[in-house]
Amino acid sequence: MSLLTLDDATIKFGGLTAVNQVSFDLNKGDLFGLIGPNGAGKTTCFNLITGIYQPTSGDIRFKGKSLAGASPNKVAALGICRTFQNIRLFPSLSVLENVVVGGFLRHRSTLASALMYLPNSIKETNHLKEEAMEYLRILDLQDVPNARSADLPYGMQRRLEIARAMATKPELLLLDEPAAGMNPQEKQDLMETVRRIRDNQGITILVIEHDMRLVMNLCERIVVLDHSEEIAHGPPEAIRNDPKVISAYLGEPV
Ligand SMILES: Nc1ncnc2c1ncn2[C@@H]1O[C@H](COP(=O)(O)OP(=O)(O)O)[C@@H](O)[C@H]1O
Ligand SMILES: [Mg+2]
Repeated sequence: MSLLTLDDATIKFGGLTAVNQVSFDLNKGDLFGLIGPNGAGKTTCFNLITGIYQPTSGDIRFKGKSLAGASPNKVAALGICRTFQNIRLFPSLSVLENVVVGGFLRHRSTLASALMYLPNSIKETNHLKEEAMEYLRILDLQDVPNARSADLPYGMQRRLEIARAMATKPELLLLDEPAAGMNPQEKQDLMETVRRIRDNQGITILVIEHDMRLVMNLCERIVVLDHSEEIAHGPPEAIRNDPKVISAYLGEPV
């Protein structure tokens, strides 16, 4: 059975169709790419999967069960966690604390209750701290656990977001342009880290990336969106030579 299924997922905002009849399947262990030019509907797909928006028509299923009506909290509790295109960390908390909060979110349904219980659950916190250090190591942030997250360079903040998402122990991790704003070497390093997360932690990953070349090297299967529609779907070799994809990316830096 597939882990995640988009079945003709569609959402309209007034007259604008942001995602139009998009269908694809993710199997457990997939490292799957979602690409397309700016405005294609990629982030909106994540918003649909994570319950921020409900589809106007079509369905999204996780382990065979429809996510229709599920709130973002509920979707997270089911095992789907995401990072955002624009970084959303707790800027005044330390690097380690940001990841510990991710772990707390697994136990408490809301951030408010997570923060409220923080000082009272020392034992749990110690355990979460150890786990958090492990995630920091995976994301190569183990040397800066006590830095204020707002003081980190941008590329490290992006990696910290992934560490925090991992602390929720998701089965499915959605990464929205995790390498945005990084230099080429940082991007390459991050992509290798993403692959290791899939290989070593067994987490299924759906990654949005604007840079087609980067995704081609990383993902085994790719869906391409353009103007809200799915225009191609398949392994990188097929995508690379697809005339519709080439045309959608014309004029874009590839
Ligand atoms: N809440 C919203 N209200 C109106 N339009 C939206 C909303 N969210 C997204 N859109 C529109 O949907 C389209 C796709 O946006 P988005 O999914 O962010 O694209 P991408 O992530 O591929 O760059 C854009 O035209 C965007 O303006
Ligand atoms: Mg986007």
